[in-house]
Amino acid sequence: MAPFWSRERLQALIQQGLGDLPLLVVSNREPWIHRHSNGGISAERPASGLVSALEPFAEASGGTWIAHGSGDADRCSVDACDGVAVPPGQPRYRLRRVWLSEAEQEGYYTHLANRALWPLCHVAFVPPHFEEAHWRMYRQVNARFADAVLQEAAGEAALVFLQDYHLALVPRLLRQANPKLLLVQFWHVPWPNRELLRTFPQADALIHGLLGNDLIGFQIPAHARNFLDAADRLVEARVDPDDDQVHQNGHRTHVGAYPISIDFQQWSTVAASDAVTAAMQSWQEQIGVHDPALLGVGMERLDYTKGLTQRLLAVERLLERHPEWHGRFCFVQLLATSRTEIAEYRQLRQELEQITARVNDRWADGGWCPLQLRVEQRELEERLALQRLGRFCVVSSLHDGMNLVAKEFVAARCDGDGVLILSRFAGCALELGGALQVHPYCVEQIAEAMARALSLDPADRRLRMAQMRRQVADHNVFRWGASILADSLRLRDQMQLHPASLQG
Ligand code: G6P
Repeated sequence: MAPFWSRERLQALIQQGLGDLPLLVVSNREPWIHRHSNGGISAERPASGLVSALEPFAEASGGTWIAHGSGDADRCSVDACDGVAVPPGQPRYRLRRVWLSEAEQEGYYTHLANRALWPLCHVAFVPPHFEEAHWRMYRQVNARFADAVLQEAAGEAALVFLQDYHLALVPRLLRQANPKLLLVQFWHVPWPNRELLRTFPQADALIHGLLGNDLIGFQIPAHARNFLDAADRLVEARVDPDDDQVHQNGHRTHVGAYPISIDFQQWSTVAASDAVTAAMQSWQEQIGVHDPALLGVGMERLDYTKGLTQRLLAVERLLERHPEWHGRFCFVQLLATSRTEIAEYRQLRQELEQITARVNDRWADGGWCPLQLRVEQRELEERLALQRLGRFCVVSSLHDGMNLVAKEFVAARCDGDGVLILSRFAGCALELGGALQVHPYCVEQIAEAMARALSLDPADRRLRMAQMRRQVADHNVFRWGASILADSLRLRDQMQLHPASLQG
């Protein structure tokens, strides 16, 4: 049965709902990156859940996506207004690039966004680094993004859809400069509790910035509640506990939970393709695994929030406990490098390499290598093939807003088989009841779940997978988009009908 929400249906809603209202999507990461390669220029699409989720919006509206131009050939690919029509070859919308100097990129992105806000929001016990100079750079760059939006909107009304923790100060600047804008922001990462948030010296400015929005979306209700609590206690604002709104100086901001997702049908269809079947064969040869029923996999960005250390230690524990699987069981961890300019990320890689070397020193034998750490970029078909091949996939984030890898694994299992071992601290744990849920700090529990996944009854595996496939098929990314858009448009209509009632 076709899902209720499809790309076409969402796109029809966008076109009909927006009418003449222009749409401006704003994010740090750009949806297309131009790079010099082999004497020419190639356009790459970053493997990002954020980009996949927002692209239907940009395409259907024919609007503009404003983002940091980070590719080495980005500057020679734009017109005089820093814009380029994308996707290349079949243009559907305009990408407007914001240029950042090296110092801006370092202060705003590397430090404030990724060494302060990222660990702060994820509660992963990596201390956030707060420095006044980085905060100044964050403010400066947020003002640059706001200027780009204001230029694009040219004083008129538009729906501005802002993304994530890089741009918390943009909405306030926009509201002050152009009150006709309808401002909506989606916060992709968790929002921490008030006690933790207070450790950030500029917590009040962050909240104040975000309260410039008409609507702020979080992944799960707990993060939305944390935000409401912070707004209530850390800034001068009134929170209406009955209708999830924050009132401040005559403006009100609606706060809600909108669990993001994936294009289930597309992933499922690609996973069932011949290319993926061929890639499965090729993986089997590369890994040297004879029996895929004894294969576990993991794949994500190399990031300390993902619980990778505990996961590899769990493989070690499993092998200590189960000598019967020596010579047969294998765990493959695929990692995409990420934020390598940050020391914690480089240290994590070293730590994972050390654990892998130790495990393989203890048990590798002949052609058998029980733990394989592969830090390499792979094509979509190859990633899906590895997910299809494994008996189980581990997603053991220490804390995660949603985690789309878990949903991708479920979509990839078009064979209806496979076991998901899932951290109870990933946002998607609320939806994926068919997973074997684990405490991600408890190595013992992860090892036990791996053992259980290897010996789970096939009927039980299928039942669990069927529940998860139904959930993700039904709650796909188009439903996410439709729900946040419908609420935004409802707000616009209320504002047009009863502007006075919006006084706080
Ligand atoms: C997370 C964030 C996104 C970010 C992505 C990749 O999912 O929520 O905003 O784009 O990680 O990180 P990067 O720093 O490479 O953009």
